[in-house]
Amino acid sequence: MKGKVYIVGAGPGDISLLTIKGLKCLQKAEVVVYDFHLNAQVLNYISHDAEFIYAGKRGGQHTMTQDEINKTLVEKAKEGKIICRLKGGDPFVFGRGGEEAETLARENIEFEIVPGVSSAIAAPAYAGIPLTHRDHAQSCIFVTGHLKDGSMDLDWDVLARPRQTIVVYMGLYGLATLCTELVAHGLPDTTPAAIVQQGTTQNQRVVTGTLATLPGITQEEHLHAPTLIIIGGVVTLRKKLAWFNPMKSASSKS
Ligand SMILES: C[S@@+](CC[C@H](N)C(=O)[O-])C[C@H]1O[C@@H](n2cnc3c(N)ncnc32)[C@H](O)[C@@H]1O
Repeated sequence: MKGKVYIVGAGPGDISLLTIKGLKCLQKAEVVVYDFHLNAQVLNYISHDAEFIYAGKRGGQHTMTQDEINKTLVEKAKEGKIICRLKGGDPFVFGRGGEEAETLARENIEFEIVPGVSSAIAAPAYAGIPLTHRDHAQSCIFVTGHLKDGSMDLDWDVLARPRQTIVVYMGLYGLATLCTELVAHGLPDTTPAAIVQQGTTQNQRVVTGTLATLPGITQEEHLHAPTLIIIGGVVTLRKKLAWFNPMKSASSKS
């Protein structure tokens, strides 16, 4: 008898953003395969008898390759186990959940996708930055700022549009390139921009500036991953809407 794989989004960090469906999946899991960018408290909801497999990835260092993860999911499912594949944020947003689901589909293994709150939704919310607002942005675009061969493969003309919010995952190391390219493609260098480190957690830090100043401020402040970058007029609303004051807010700057 084949088992079943639940590909579950654990949310961005604040444990209370885990969905009820995600929680139910954790509680029935016999095997959990989990990533690095997770609030470890999530694991407390899993039975002690379950098998815990760490698949994490930190700073580009892989504990398991994607092929090994896929293989593990297939093997455990073929043993008839209920598997929870636990991923940060939402599994279908820059999370390779699609590749894992494709493997399971190919092997005729039953699976379900349990959406999670993506960091691109949650971190701006906890920073007091609405992604859209009638006075500032009518559209919002999510991109990855991951550098490939030292450059970013993005459609700059599509990004550098007025009245649009840009949310960048994995953009910390390419932040200077990102800001330079956006200005080169037409956005004013005074365009407001923010970076949120460890959004929704008690370690959340938010730094704001402009396309001209954000890379320098980010360096001065020694920000580190995971971070999310938000670019556009909506960033100015943080002055009025910053509501979340984590315990370590003494180190926040905006
Ligand atoms: C591999 S992607 C996974 C994204 C995830 N699937 C999601 O929906 O949020 C990892 C990136 O998500 C962003 N990220 C995840 N959690 C975050 C958090 N709590 N605060 C800020 N950014 C976060 C960072 O850009 C990080 O490098």
